[in-house]
Amino acid sequence: MSLSPNTELKTKVLITGANTGIGYETCLALLRSQIPYTIFLGSRSKTNAENAIKKLYEQIDFDQPSSGSDSEVIPVVVDLESDESISACYEEVKSRTDKLDVLVNNAGAAFDGTGPKNGMSQREIFNRTFDINVTGTHILTQRFIPLLFNSANPRILFLTSGSASLSRTEDPHFSLNKSPGPGWPKEEEEGEGGYLSYKSSKLALNMIMRDWIRLLRNDDKFKIWSINPGTVLTGLGGDKEQLKKWNAKSPETSGIFIRDVIEGKRDDQVGKSVSPPGGPSGNILPW
Ligand SMILES: NC(=O)c1ccc[n+]([C@@H]2O[C@H](COP(=O)([O-])OP(=O)(O)OC[C@H]3O[C@@H](n4cnc5c(N)ncnc54)[C@H](OP(=O)(O)O)[C@@H]3O)[C@@H](O)[C@H]2O)c1
Repeated sequence: MSLSPNTELKTKVLITGANTGIGYETCLALLRSQIPYTIFLGSRSKTNAENAIKKLYEQIDFDQPSSGSDSEVIPVVVDLESDESISACYEEVKSRTDKLDVLVNNAGAAFDGTGPKNGMSQREIFNRTFDINVTGTHILTQRFIPLLFNSANPRILFLTSGSASLSRTEDPHFSLNKSPGPGWPKEEEEGEGGYLSYKSSKLALNMIMRDWIRLLRNDDKFKIWSINPGTVLTGLGGDKEQLKKWNAKSPETSGIFIRDVIEGKRDDQVGKSVSPPGGPSGNILPW
């Protein structure tokens, strides 16, 4: 698919892990905006990216003049566990545009629930979670900084989690804070209160976000946030029943929220971990 002739006027956005879940819904929300976007839809698999784009265009129905803006979606392959893949993704995006306006670091994974059942050791669960959610995300951000510098209004969003808050570990009412009874060994935790590698990785990601704030503080055109998208029903963790127990909502709301951040509705909360309105933790998640 080639870029349309007036591509220069469009806001350029890269969303990692956008073939499904919250990333997909963010693409859909952007396509429904009146602002024209060029969306680079990141996926580990080219086929999944292309299928997602087909589905997006079906949902939007571009033949209807009232259906939204003159946006376009370009598939890009990126696997955060591979430096080569991150570099190839950068070269692909750079071959199509000389600037990137928005980087949505959406791709992420959790193995705490299903990993043990799939034969992953605790070391594998921790290392893989951190490789994707922290290390790979940081390396990709570093790689794309030159293109972001070429934007007049660069924005970086890091998808964090409501569980990634040290303050909430002091809140006895927070659902992920339940303690098992006394004695050792503890009864097995079915996700509740667990997800230790996942929540630790997202806490680390918040620190990465704050360090980008430090690094770019004197380049004051940059706007950077951690995004807490709320608990929503996606493929995250591979256990939808667990997400339902946590009262997961539709990921559509997260996509609209992320679009709001991209379009300036949280510009007064730069550097914070921001949540959708009406969530249990308020509009800003405490550190
Ligand atoms: N769902 C929630 O309630 C919730 C709450 C808080 C935060 N989040 C965060 O929101 C983000 C999106 O998650 P989601 O809920 O939409 O989950 P999802 O449906 O599982 O989507 C995750 C996306 O990340 C991709 N991904 C996984 N490993 C990757 C890798 N090594 N390299 C590149 N991409 C990779 C997946 O690709 P494949 O399709 O190829 O697997 C998929 O596109 C994540 O960062 C997650 O931690 C979600």
